[in-house]
Amino acid sequence: MNAVPVIAVDGPSASGKGTVAQLVAERLGFHYLDSGALYRLVALAALRSGVSMQDEAGLAIVADALEARFYDGEVWLAGEPVTDAIRDEACSNGASKVAAFPAVRAALLARQRAFRGAPGLVAEGRDMGSVVFPDSHLKVFLTASVEARAERRYKQLKGKGITATIGTLLKDLRERDARDTARSAAPLKHCPDAYLLDTTAMSAAEAAERILAWYREAHGGNNAR
Ligand code: DC
Repeated sequence: MNAVPVIAVDGPSASGKGTVAQLVAERLGFHYLDSGALYRLVALAALRSGVSMQDEAGLAIVADALEARFYDGEVWLAGEPVTDAIRDEACSNGASKVAAFPAVRAALLARQRAFRGAPGLVAEGRDMGSVVFPDSHLKVFLTASVEARAERRYKQLKGKGITATIGTLLKDLRERDARDTARSAAPLKHCPDAYLLDTTAMSAAEAAERILAWYREAHGGNNAR
């Protein structure tokens, strides 16, 4: 077993997993892997180079050659900051398409494993605990009711000055849940070895505290700052 600890965090869309995983990484001084950003970067690079979202072999080549960097709080593609660009609708849709191809997932495997470094890693995303880091020291599956998730997304969009209705967001989330759960490559599911954390009535800080407590119990240490 690799001695460098990994905490794997997964959950449905808008479950707050990104915010919570980053808080846990900060508290422990661990590295942080946003694996979804890698799939979004593959989609952006493919869109820019004209590779079709249906071309599995072509997309795997894009994934293999991806010039991705994470520093200064930004995501970079070939030397250009693309933090906002990878969050737009085209990249979000593209990411969910490219992520369904096993060849793309395989091409990103070594790159994701390279994030594992001392003193530890918090890895967020679909198959972190099942495929990429099966020997994770702690696996957590975050959930929240679809209503709570729609509410969170609503506030997030409002904060960015984007108008949306709760009804539309609810419908989108229900559709995305169904698609994510039904797909054959790395479907969304709560693995039996993952701790289940329902954050419907919890803040991100409370959820992070719960995870830190589980980590200390499992790891027998207390190295949170
Ligand atoms: O977490 P996110 O919304 O940034 O993820 C973008 C897309 O990539 C989403 O469709 C889920 C998918 N994904 C995946 O299949 N495996 C991962 N490890 C991370 C994300």
